[in-house]
Amino acid sequence: MTLTVRPVVGRRAKISALGTYVPPDVITNQDLEKLVDTSDQWIRERTGIRERHVLAKGLGVSDMCAEAARRCLAARGMEPGEVEVIVVGTVTPDMMFPATACLVQDKIGARGAWGFDVSAGCSGFVFALQAGVKLVESGAHARVLVIGSDANTRMTDYTDRATCVLFGDGAGAVLIEPAAEGEIGFIDFVHEVDGSGGPALNLKGGGSLNPSSHETVDRKMHYIYQDGPAVFKFAVRKMAEVTVKVLERNGVTGADLGCFISHQANKRIITATADRLGMDPERVIVNIEKYGNTSSGTIPLAMETAIEEGKLKKGDLVLLAAAGAGFTAGAALLRWEI
Ligand code: ACO
Repeated sequence: MTLTVRPVVGRRAKISALGTYVPPDVITNQDLEKLVDTSDQWIRERTGIRERHVLAKGLGVSDMCAEAARRCLAARGMEPGEVEVIVVGTVTPDMMFPATACLVQDKIGARGAWGFDVSAGCSGFVFALQAGVKLVESGAHARVLVIGSDANTRMTDYTDRATCVLFGDGAGAVLIEPAAEGEIGFIDFVHEVDGSGGPALNLKGGGSLNPSSHETVDRKMHYIYQDGPAVFKFAVRKMAEVTVKVLERNGVTGADLGCFISHQANKRIITATADRLGMDPERVIVNIEKYGNTSSGTIPLAMETAIEEGKLKKGDLVLLAAAGAGFTAGAALLRWEI
């Protein structure tokens, strides 16, 4: 490996703590067999998913974010009042406005903090992460909570078998702080958007173009629409492109990575990307069987899995990657410093 640590303008930033949350209720493949014409075997073979968690009625994404944030701060031994900024990646906010970051700020009692939401489909966490990291690297802030969470089951049409089997609900939060002497933390990001992919994956109802009405509901415009094969092809091609780019321009290969933590949309997408990087499957983190696709929640949830499985340790080089609605795609290279 010839890792050339890219200089940053300002100081280096790192992840100093992680916290995650999934709601307790679960929908299994067997449950879905009773709702649509599908089978446990088809879902497992075509996606890798066995079950997914579902947020209870009366709660919103902000509740999952707040719980993940509390756990993250507890892991660091930090009080909510010490948080300076909250950045939330989500496409399933509690409501159009106010921003989820404001709701989370109030729920956790982060008095004095400011924050905002990032809308980038399933790339929401990696996009929000770059925003949070740059706020710390620039010297503007020293304690930034970056949260990824989605309540996809709220926007899912449980008569559409090609879509309803994929999604689950969950959240993860990381704290970004300045790196200490000798630590590297974040090394590089590669992000892209391609708005021409918008028609392949979207939720049309309830916005300024198609405000909610009886007609938008009758036409099921309040549900996620997707052209599954088109999304699949984009994700396979683009995740390979952004991951190869971020590794190559930093002198790193798949063999140098402690682990590869991918967005969990479909096990076949993760495997295709990992193969392109020449990764040993043992170091590719997959937890889609337990959680399904939680959009912006997948990467922090997979960080937790990697730690539990002993595959993510202090000093490891880690590659993150995601692709999603927009289209969007992103990759991050970092050294794990916890
Ligand atoms: N159970 C049984 N059969 C099904 C199901 C199901 N749940 N869903 C689709 N099928 C059928 C189709 O109707 C089709 O039948 P036909 O051949 O008789 O027409 C057949 O299975 C094959 O359909 P495909 O759409 O070609 O199946 P594919 O193997 O592509 O899998 C899937 C579909 C799982 C949606 C896949 O395309 C995919 O994962 N796409 C990515 C979508 C995604 O990840 N969206 C999330 C947001 S974006 C992101 O996170 C990257």
